[in-house]
Amino acid sequence: MNENKKLWGGRFEKSTDEMINEFQASINFDKRMYREDIEGSMAHAKMLAAQKIITDEDCQKIINGLNDILKQIDAGEFNFDIALEDIHMNIEKVLTDNIGEAGGRLHTARSRNDQVALDTHLYVRRQTAEVQKLIIALQKSIVNAAKKNRNVIMPGYTHLQRAQPILLAHHLMAYFSMLVRDFDRFAGVYERTDIMPLGAGALAGTTFPINRQQVADELKFNKLYNNSLDAVSDRDYILEFMSAASILMVHLSRLSEELILWCSREFSFIELDDAHCTGSSMMPQKKNPDVPELVRGKTGRVIGHLMAMLTTVKALPLAYNKDLQEDKEGLFDVIDTIKFSLAVYAQIIDGLKIKEDNMLRAVEEDFSNATDLADYLVKKNLPFREAHAVSGKIVHDCIARNIYLKDLTLDDFKKYSDLFDEDVKEAIKPETCVKNRNSFGGTSYKQVEMQIEAACKWLDSRRN
Ligand code: ARG
Repeated sequence: MNENKKLWGGRFEKSTDEMINEFQASINFDKRMYREDIEGSMAHAKMLAAQKIITDEDCQKIINGLNDILKQIDAGEFNFDIALEDIHMNIEKVLTDNIGEAGGRLHTARSRNDQVALDTHLYVRRQTAEVQKLIIALQKSIVNAAKKNRNVIMPGYTHLQRAQPILLAHHLMAYFSMLVRDFDRFAGVYERTDIMPLGAGALAGTTFPINRQQVADELKFNKLYNNSLDAVSDRDYILEFMSAASILMVHLSRLSEELILWCSREFSFIELDDAHCTGSSMMPQKKNPDVPELVRGKTGRVIGHLMAMLTTVKALPLAYNKDLQEDKEGLFDVIDTIKFSLAVYAQIIDGLKIKEDNMLRAVEEDFSNATDLADYLVKKNLPFREAHAVSGKIVHDCIARNIYLKDLTLDDFKKYSDLFDEDVKEAIKPETCVKNRNSFGGTSYKQVEMQIEAACKWLDSRRN
């Protein structure tokens, strides 16, 4: 290539090796930050003019030139050049080609080190808000599913063994709560991304009388970095975004695992919508839960990007090092993956078909009401330990007879304890077991209704 093209070519006698050019270029991926790069440059130019570092006339030329480039890129008509390394130099070079000398003044009091930091902050801040919207959309789908299935009873599990009867709505609302924390985590990410790095220069600040606050105001940043070294080398906000994303994906992965199990023939608790599944090229009977499987699979990939970035930043000396360019591909992939997964998941939940009878049967044809049998005796003043032993013995004998607690007569019960009365039958019905778990946050109809109400309020308060 013609070496004069390089914006930093002055000090060099030889042109860059072709392979090295390709190796170090980031344009193929950082071009997605073109909007942020242009917004940042416009704010910088306005500040330079306000501070009389450049003339108003040059500033106007820069703004117009950048607007033209923005339109060109939006229209897919901009020619990105790998020899110009990154989005910053691609735009600056074309700007200068288009408007002449004024373009050459744009980079006054700025380095690509603080420029890339600014672009990435703007980008992550914007994407964080979008992720939060998608979390809310999924939460709405979850609340709707909970409302639609208010009275559906299913076994709750521990150790993947049927444990106690619960409401399906209760189970679903657990995911709602997890997503509230995810939302809050991203709010924290937003807060710590909302800090303006420009003006740090390459690392030490600048000799020009800049006004960093003006740039921050123009771009609606809440704060300024108060240390220039930190401003150009901080990637905590990316690490935090990726960790919030990883935890979010872990939640979706747990839900995926459950949905995959539940739509297996062995469980048969749910069916996914045909539109959300695929068949097998070989086995005609198959309907595969690909979407939850893929979300579960992509969780590994998101966690991997977090690990990669932690490893990249670990032991990096201050301030900027080219290693930091490695932040973007993983970050972008994490953003794409979580946004896609959240959007797809809302559809999956909307399309869920619940096999209510199978869920209830799984409760009735087992012993998940054994705790309630013990609790019944405790309410008749037997110490819990003894009640537990009685109930355990009854379960043991039922298993031997291949029957369930509901099949026992009052006489059968009385053989184990005088405390049993006719009302024991009612006490061990699944509906009663659910209704009676009325402690705050429990699975009773009332408590779940309260959860749903609180969730709706929470969602309403996010609207602004
Ligand atoms: N493309 C670079 C990055 O993503 C921009 C900053 C480059 N700065 C430098 N001095 N080489 O990190």
